[in-house]
Amino acid sequence: MTTRFEPARPRPAAAVLAAAAAAVAAALLLAPAAAGAQIVEARRGMVSAQEPHAARAGLEVLEAGGSAVDAAVATAFALAVTHPQAGNIGGGGFLIVRPPAGPPAAYDFREAAPAAASAEMFLVDGEYDAARHHDSHVAVGVPGTVAGLHLAWSEQGRLPWRRLLEPAIALARDGFAVPAHLARSLAGVLPAMRRYPASLAQFSRDGAPYAAGETLRQPDLARTLERIAATGPDGFYRGPTAELIAREMQANGGLITTADLAAYRAVRREPVRGAYRGHEIISMPPPSSGGTVLIEMLNVLEGFDLAAGGHGTARTVHLMAETMRRAYADRALHLGDPDFNPALPLPRLLSKAYAARLRQSIDPERASRSSPASFAWPPAGEETTHLSVVDAERLAVALTYTLEQRYGSKIVVPGAGFLLNNEMGDFNPAPGLTTAAGLIGTPPNLAAPGKRMLSSMTPTIVARDGRLRLLTGSPGGRTIINTVLHTIVNVVDFGMDADAAVNAPRFHHQWLPDRLVHERGGLEAATRARLAAQGHALAERERQGVVQAIVYDAEADRLAGAPDRRAPGSTVLGY
Ligand code: GLY
Repeated sequence: MTTRFEPARPRPAAAVLAAAAAAVAAALLLAPAAAGAQIVEARRGMVSAQEPHAARAGLEVLEAGGSAVDAAVATAFALAVTHPQAGNIGGGGFLIVRPPAGPPAAYDFREAAPAAASAEMFLVDGEYDAARHHDSHVAVGVPGTVAGLHLAWSEQGRLPWRRLLEPAIALARDGFAVPAHLARSLAGVLPAMRRYPASLAQFSRDGAPYAAGETLRQPDLARTLERIAATGPDGFYRGPTAELIAREMQANGGLITTADLAAYRAVRREPVRGAYRGHEIISMPPPSSGGTVLIEMLNVLEGFDLAAGGHGTARTVHLMAETMRRAYADRALHLGDPDFNPALPLPRLLSKAYAARLRQSIDPERASRSSPASFAWPPAGEETTHLSVVDAERLAVALTYTLEQRYGSKIVVPGAGFLLNNEMGDFNPAPGLTTAAGLIGTPPNLAAPGKRMLSSMTPTIVARDGRLRLLTGSPGGRTIINTVLHTIVNVVDFGMDADAAVNAPRFHHQWLPDRLVHERGGLEAATRARLAAQGHALAERERQGVVQAIVYDAEADRLAGAPDRRAPGSTVLGY
């Protein structure tokens, strides 16, 4: 593909994306501070997570003398019980840790393709089969979460492993009151779970949806967590849990075997690092595209005076959208699992010189046009979840993990009580299968045995003058990287506090389809008109992402966070 951007003609603001679940008042999006700032400040430690029991589990670990890694592990295991939409032990993710002194680290516990995988595995009689790719036992990747949490803990934890699982075990065994938003979500997913008796049994009362306030107990999950607490990763990757997973796979045409599970390893990697207006950016390297694309965008934006342009103005939105367009094109064309793509062009994509060339290609008055214009991405899961933790020593952890789609594959492992991911859907569908209907078949991200699928998860830590400044991350599929970009620009360029940085309106451009998608009520009418006149195809959606950010004021030695009001469970706790 040589020509990726062309000048565009003005277009009417028209398309409207399907509404997302939570309605967010336009007034709230346009004036987050006025809608009631909820800044939480603390001196010693802070946990920001998408569900209150899980945030509480992390805070109690900090109060008990645990490190930020300990608290992140406890929070993540608790989310696997209380936030089944994305919290998991049957999925995978990434963790960035920054110590107050010494090098940061990135932990990669992305799911891996089983040994029987191949680039053609989503074809049936030579035809691409979307259900096989996204909604089947074949769509399940070898889970990484338990191995990843254990690796991070074994290198940077302080409290006993078992202590970190205790809150999750209690929540699964004794149950918790189902909040209204989870009751709604479970009612919505039950039709898809009816195919799987163990899923229906776990997440309904004899087939009827849970009402808000009823107690959800998950005894099989409690027993699996007990095994993990007792023996570490072996409690998941070997013995009864592994056998239960392999049996479910074998009975339903899935590919994962006990050998695949025993072979899984989490990996410690070098984070990708960038510099933005005197700040150090530390983020996730491939197999996530997140950190690379984020730094590429920040490098481009560094050459524009965004603060002078103003937040949410047509000028700023245009420059950011054109930057997003270019970096997302590079994501699609170049990125994949580094262990299978030894020649990933990271030095070029992360360089200031390349960013300068991209910047020069941006016309400040006119939108480019992405090519091929008719391309549309396939649907991507947006139900990932992120958590951020800082402890009293200022060890900082940003962790994002996922099942891919909401409740992943919807398959609960019978007898083991946890949901499996459908992350194989993040691989490209088949060699060369790039179509106007929304498929992309570029080689770096084709399935292969043991390979990890490309991700957009972007757990990120920002430092300044050698001291912590910001932790951030979000769910949202391909929107994640832009959501994280917004948080950083909001703090660095626009001087926002934690509440404004998290709750300010967001927008997204991903090269293809060629659309600038903004949150409903997030851009003023005059701004929308100006952007349309410049040639942007505008679309709107209810919400973009759910940020869990912590802002650190090194001078005052104070931590600040604020719940993202887009998601009812978002919780920030400090002490
Ligand atoms: N499954 C979403 C992501 O990894 O980006």
